[in-house]
Amino acid sequence: MLRRKIFDLLESEVRSYARTFPALFDKARGTELVDSSGRRYLDFLAGAGSLNYGHNNPVLKSALLDYIADDGITHSLDLHTGAKERFIEAMWDIILKPRHLDYVIQFTGPTGTNAVEAAMKLARKVTGRTNIITFTNGFHGVSLGALAATGNSHNRAAAGIPLQGTTVMPYDGYFGEEIDTITYIEKMLCDPSSGIDLPAAMILECVQGEGGINMARPGWLRRLRKLCDEKEILLIVDDIQAGCGRTGTFFSFEEAGIQPDIVTLSKSLSGYGLPFSVVLIKREYDVWRPGEHNGTFRGNNHAFITAAAALEHYWRTPDFSNAILTKGEFLRRRLQKLAARFAPDVVAVRGRGMMRGLVCADPARAAEVTAHAYGNGLIIERCGPEDEVIKFLMPLTTTEDELDEALDILEQSLGHVYGRSLRRIAPSRPLEAPLQLVPPASIQPAKKRVAAMARRTNDTGAKKAGPITAVKNGPSPGNGKGRTNGSGSRLTA
Ligand SMILES: Cc1ncc(COP(=O)(O)O)c(C=O)c1O
Repeated sequence: MLRRKIFDLLESEVRSYARTFPALFDKARGTELVDSSGRRYLDFLAGAGSLNYGHNNPVLKSALLDYIADDGITHSLDLHTGAKERFIEAMWDIILKPRHLDYVIQFTGPTGTNAVEAAMKLARKVTGRTNIITFTNGFHGVSLGALAATGNSHNRAAAGIPLQGTTVMPYDGYFGEEIDTITYIEKMLCDPSSGIDLPAAMILECVQGEGGINMARPGWLRRLRKLCDEKEILLIVDDIQAGCGRTGTFFSFEEAGIQPDIVTLSKSLSGYGLPFSVVLIKREYDVWRPGEHNGTFRGNNHAFITAAAALEHYWRTPDFSNAILTKGEFLRRRLQKLAARFAPDVVAVRGRGMMRGLVCADPARAAEVTAHAYGNGLIIERCGPEDEVIKFLMPLTTTEDELDEALDILEQSLGHVYGRSLRRIAPSRPLEAPLQLVPPASIQPAKKRVAAMARRTNDTGAKKAGPITAVKNGPSPGNGKGRTNGSGSRLTA
C-alpha cells in the first residue's frame, strides 16, 4: 500500500498510463506482466509498442548480460564503439542493403520525438523551406517541433506557444474511402494561389498508431511519393510505431514499394525497451555539419547490443515476417467475428500485421470494455480521436495461445459492457500455413536534387488471470496517455 501511495504523493500529475493500469508491476517475460501481488496480466500494450520482441527476450538479454559482464561501454556520447559498429553492420547487412535503401544513420536523442525533430530540421535545411505538410490524426511526439506535426488537441493545448511551420492535410480515407485526398493535396500544392507555402517535406505514418490505426493505401502512398518527386518535396515516413516489423515487414512502407527520403525509427528498435532512436537519411540529403544537431545521449550502447541481436536473430530470414503476417491474419479474422457479433456497437476492424484496431461506436463504452478487460488480466489501450479504437499492440512474439486467451478476455468484456449473452465464437483455430512475403520491390535510387533545390531556394545551408469481475473504482476509463476520459473531456488528477 505504502509503495503505491508514494506515486500519488511524489510523482507529477503528468503521469498517464499508470492511471489506466494502476497495478504495481514487478516482473515481466514475453507477453506477460506480473504485479507485486503475483497477479499475471497479458500485456497487449507492450510498452506502447516498444517491446516487439517481448519483455526480457532471452536472446537479447543474454547478449546484453554478456556485454555488461565484459565491461562494455555504457555511455551514449557519439564516440565510435564496438557496440555501435555491430549495430550499424547489422542494420546495413540485414535491413538496408537487401531492400536497396542507401541510407546513412543519424543517432539522435533517445526518444521518438527527438528523431522527428531532427528529421524535420534536416528537411528544412536541405530545401531552405519552412513549411512541413502533416496529416490529420498524425502523431509524431510532444516536443515543440514534433508537436506542430501532431494532430491531437489535448497534446497541442499544452504547448504554451503557437505551434508553427506546418500545414495539415487530409490523410487517406479522412473523408471516407470514396474521397480522393491526394487530388485535394495536389491541387493545394500546385495552385500558386492556394495559400499553402511550398513545403520542405511531408511527414506521415503509413499506419497511424495513436490516431486510430488508420491505414494509408499502397496506391495512395505511391501517388504521394510521386507528388513529392514532382514538387521536390522530401518524404519523411515516421516509422516509430509502425516500423520494426509491426505491420509484417520491417518497414511499414515496404508494402507500397516506395522509398522515403527520411525515416524515423525508435520504440522497438532496441528491442529490449531501451531508449534508442535513429533517423535514416538518403545519402544525398545528409547535409548536417558536425555537431549541428547535438546531444549527450545520441546512441545508447546497451541498445546497440540488443538491437543488433534482435536484427541478427529475427530478421536474417523471412520466417519472422511470415509469422507476423500469419498471426496478424488470425487476429484480424477473430476481430472481424467480434465486430460482426457486436455490431452496431463495434463498427470496424482496422490495421495491418500485428497492429490492429477494433473500432467502437461509443468511446465511453470502449473505455468500459478496456477497463473490464484490465480487471480480467488484459492490458490493452485505446487510440483514435475520441479514444474509440481498442488497439492491439502486443509483442510480435506473442503466441497463438496468448492471442486466443486475450481475445477470449476481450470477448467477455464486450459481452459484459454490451449486455449480450456470452457465447464462445468458435474454438480457436490452428494458425494457417504462413503467408508468403512479397520480396521488397526494387526501388530506384533517388534523383540528386539537393543542389537544384538549394539553388532555387537560397539554401542556408505467475498466476493465471483472476476471476471475471467488473472493476470498481479501478482504472480510469481514460486511455493510458491521460488524453480524454472517453467521453471527450479531459482527465483530471
Ligand atoms: C508515430 C510516432 N512518432 C513519434 C512518437 C513519439 O515518440 P516518443 O514518445 O518516444 O517521443 C510516437 C509515440 O507514440 C509515435 O507513435
